[in-house]
Amino acid sequence: MRVPIIAGNWKMNKTVPKAVALIQELVPLVAHSQGAEIVVCPPFTALYPVGRELSGTNIVLGAQNLFWADQGAYTGEISAAMLVDLGVSYVILGHSERRAYQGETDTQIANKLQAAFKAALRPILCVGEHLTDREQGRAQAVVETQLEEDLKLLSSEQVRQLVIAYEPIWAIGTGRCAEPADAADMAQMIRNVVADKFGPGAAAEVRIQYGGSVSGANSHSFLSQAGIDGALVGGASLKAEDFATIVKSALR
Ligand code: PGA
Repeated sequence: MRVPIIAGNWKMNKTVPKAVALIQELVPLVAHSQGAEIVVCPPFTALYPVGRELSGTNIVLGAQNLFWADQGAYTGEISAAMLVDLGVSYVILGHSERRAYQGETDTQIANKLQAAFKAALRPILCVGEHLTDREQGRAQAVVETQLEEDLKLLSSEQVRQLVIAYEPIWAIGTGRCAEPADAADMAQMIRNVVADKFGPGAAAEVRIQYGGSVSGANSHSFLSQAGIDGALVGGASLKAEDFATIVKSALR
């Protein structure tokens, strides 16, 4: 039985006082929501103060990126061990914004996934197609290629613990969601790829989220799809009430 997972990606938002205010508002709103895993991913600068607010709650801490090396001359980067040090459990990797603005490649993402597992962090790997890919009937092929390249350094045991977020790029921050049935088809395709490469056990356990303009108003239509095990939420995770509504729609 896969436990649904709702993760909030705060992106480059919230100074420390605002991040603390948001988490203080969220904690009581979801305090009785048992049966779903709840993750918040503040920017690096707010990880420590937000993490302090989470002790004794049912929310866990996630980060938005890491660097693959253990330590060394990598100015401006953050290692997996540094995140673990702050109480981080999950890390978003391969988000389309990093692929677009930082030029992250699938090879780099594969290295980051390996570094995350080595440090016992659980990655949320983001994959998804551009609008032109979908319009030209290439959406599944694009996502399949991303999976092949991103997962190439992992074992079946690791893939069992992975979360894969299917995020069509054209749906991120646009208010234009995928059709729930299309998202479910993609989730099934992702699970088939995992089954093919890592076996039926990994395919049964890997959790697949939908992401892209998820809101309190539409989350149920995604989370009620059989193969969709959660949501990766951007904009709506910055509003405690909206995020709490999304969490509640994941409870089965
Ligand atoms: P959005 O972002 O919910 O604002 O569309 C989702 C994401 O980028 O993870």
